[in-house]
Amino acid sequence: MRSEDPVHYCESGGYWILTRYRDVEVALRDERLSSDKKPLHINQLGSLDVKEIQNFLALTSKMISEKDPPEHTRMRKLANPGFTTRAIESWRSIIQNTTDRLLDRVQNHGGMDVVSDLSLPLPGFIIPEIMGVPETDRANLLEWAMDITLIFGTSGGSNIDIEELARKADKAAVKFSALIRQLVEQRRRQPGTDMISLLSVAYQEQGVNFEELPSVCIQILIAGLLTTTDMIANGVNALLSHPDQLQKLKKNPSLIDSAVEEMIRFDTSTPFFLRIAKQDLTIGGKEIAAGSVIALGFGAANHDPEKFEEPEVFDITRTPNEHLGFSSGIHFCLGAALARMELTICFTTLLRRLPNLSFDPDQQAIPTKHSMLLLKGFDSLPVKF
Ligand code: HEM
Repeated sequence: MRSEDPVHYCESGGYWILTRYRDVEVALRDERLSSDKKPLHINQLGSLDVKEIQNFLALTSKMISEKDPPEHTRMRKLANPGFTTRAIESWRSIIQNTTDRLLDRVQNHGGMDVVSDLSLPLPGFIIPEIMGVPETDRANLLEWAMDITLIFGTSGGSNIDIEELARKADKAAVKFSALIRQLVEQRRRQPGTDMISLLSVAYQEQGVNFEELPSVCIQILIAGLLTTTDMIANGVNALLSHPDQLQKLKKNPSLIDSAVEEMIRFDTSTPFFLRIAKQDLTIGGKEIAAGSVIALGFGAANHDPEKFEEPEVFDITRTPNEHLGFSSGIHFCLGAALARMELTICFTTLLRRLPNLSFDPDQQAIPTKHSMLLLKGFDSLPVKF
């Protein structure tokens, strides 16, 4: 598609898809493209009355990733204090301890499912702890966040009952917002070093209404959980499929930073992100009407031979490696530094503790088929060690 029809209209999905690196990069800086996907979400709800999901819409339509400037600029500035290098560094031990705890559970089993034993629980334990959510509330928080996440995105699998999911998401939105409001209230009075404290202090200092904070928190969970889950599994798959690169990394663990960048370039968990055309425009000679949905193909761009030498080669020493796995421009992943730390700690620990890691020849890996969030990963990835 990239070489024959790089600005392609997908009839069945009713959207445009960009696959060339330079088109995607330019689109990310194009102010005529909006990140406000509310019309798309409402559209996917079929005959469901919007009034039935007011709470869900109120929560998710105030997320940073759905905003355009100047609102985006304002919200992003307010969220930044939750993601400083100092803050992320202070959470390093949470990430290391969580990784070790998960591997302790399977260390003597001789095998595991990378997804259910490691990549799914890892961010699920780390992010709520980093946020400072009390242990007793974490399971509920994750359940509500998942109910909200499932409906968020474009319609995926064909036999999914979207209306039912939407109602569930609406109920979850009420409970989620109440819990976050309660935590914000506590942290305003007694701030700690957790993310909710840092965000509450930032909002207080700027004299901004705290009502927005549940949206910031659901944004962080939606953006930070399954993306990391899928990226860990994709990274394990890439390493085990390229034994020479795995050996190289084992021999020289200091290559971990560039290895993680190559895992993201080679098989990103976020191969697409959507934008909406605010006006009629032309991309690559194709006329795109106002209101059209445009899928930015980060995954395809990351394999564009015009940008990357031998793009199909998985090379953990690749430099430079200007992949778009974390996007680019104003919506560049706010959690990139945190995600990089999670991935480097996870892979370093995995290879140190399970040096004989290999695919399990007796069990099939199951790639995810329908992702409502346009994510790419695995439902199951069995390994032996
Ligand atoms: C490997 C894991 C991750 C990947 C591949 C990833 C990828 C991305 C991408 C591609 C975007 C940009 C979307 C766009 O251009 O519209 C994004 C945005 C975002 N990400 Fe990540 N992400 C990851 C982990 C995280 C984590 C751990 C967090 C926070 C805990 C996070 C928080 C965010 C937020 C808040 C945004 C919205 C930024 C904005 O719109 O200004 N992400 N991420």
